[in-house]
Amino acid sequence: MADFTSDFWHWYIAIISVISILACVWLLRWMTSGFIKKDEVEDTGHVWDGDLTELNNPLPRWWLGLFYITIVFSGFYLLLYPGLGTFAGILDWTSQGQYEEEVAKTEAEVGPLFERYQQTAILDLIKDENALKVGERLYANYCTTCHGSDARGARGYPNLRDGAWLWGGDPENIKATIMHGRQAAMPAWEGPLGGESGVDEVAQYLLSLSGRATIAELAEKGKAKYEVFCIACHGPTGTGNIALGAPNLTDDIWLYGGSLTRISQSIAKGRNGKMPPHAEFLGEAKVHLLAAYVYGLSQER
Ligand code: HEC
Ligand code: HEC
Repeated sequence: MADFTSDFWHWYIAIISVISILACVWLLRWMTSGFIKKDEVEDTGHVWDGDLTELNNPLPRWWLGLFYITIVFSGFYLLLYPGLGTFAGILDWTSQGQYEEEVAKTEAEVGPLFERYQQTAILDLIKDENALKVGERLYANYCTTCHGSDARGARGYPNLRDGAWLWGGDPENIKATIMHGRQAAMPAWEGPLGGESGVDEVAQYLLSLSGRATIAELAEKGKAKYEVFCIACHGPTGTGNIALGAPNLTDDIWLYGGSLTRISQSIAKGRNGKMPPHAEFLGEAKVHLLAAYVYGLSQER
């Protein structure tokens, strides 16, 4: 209602509503006036199939009564509830108000439960079947779009069950990831590496790190380049750095695909995965349960 830009629409709606109701009353009275002589039934003059005559009987009283009841009902309704333009009704009811009341009621019921879970350490929560069930439901609601219903992820969205962590897999790290989100920043290396051939060499070296067959000569050159450009984040042995979200390059688990083409693409163009923050959206209590659920998954293996 407050969206109306002028009072005109308030009056427009209110007046049309009232006139319509009054018109119904008038119509009913007009239809029933002149029904004094009950015994004489008028003939409308319409005849079908030879002898089927249409009569003009007065409306039954009980049926008329029902009409009047609906009119009285609408009068009371418009007095109590919003309906006449911007008039709020004397009960002050709003759908928004009802929604907020229901939310507050649910909060009051489940709030203490979440509160209790929040006070419990994640290492203890993963032994609490009910807590994990709540976590699972939260996960299904908020996380499956990106990480998949089985939490095994997809290209660009990490698998949360495999025990390989970009940002660290202990309870605190997982909770921090979900609370505040993460922004990975792997620059594009095509330029610094001197174009495609440089990228090729480093890619060959990465294959050797995860124990795959390589062209030794290229890998050797790649190693030298790796030591210049990559160790700062991925570490001297390629095992990564959870403070930067730099993945372990030796475990043959690839967020963006492990084929030579895909690895070369990651190196040449860079990668910037983003995990959105959930603290404000879900609140810490729910994030705490989610962290427990996710941590629990990684312990199942
Ligand atoms: C500034 C830190 C930084 C440097 C330097 C860096 N990387 Fe990365 N790298 C990252 C981060 C962070 C990611 C994860 C990106 C993401 O999750 O979106 C990553 C991802 C990758 C991936 C994809 C891994 C996968 O699982 O799919 C490859 C391959 C890679 N880096 C290779 C290299 C190579 C080769 C170099 C050196 C030429 C290098 N990186 C230098 C931070 C860095
Ligand atoms: C819009 C997509 C999206 C949604 C929704 C999302 N995530 Fe993520 N999440 C990502 C991406 C992308 C990354 C990887 C970021 C990177 O490249 O470093 C990630 C990373 C993570 C990580 C870190 C994994 C690691 O290896 O360190 C955890 C844990 C995680 N998400 C849990 C969750 C949970 C729990 C939810 C639900 C509340 C969720 N995510 C919702 C996209 C999403």
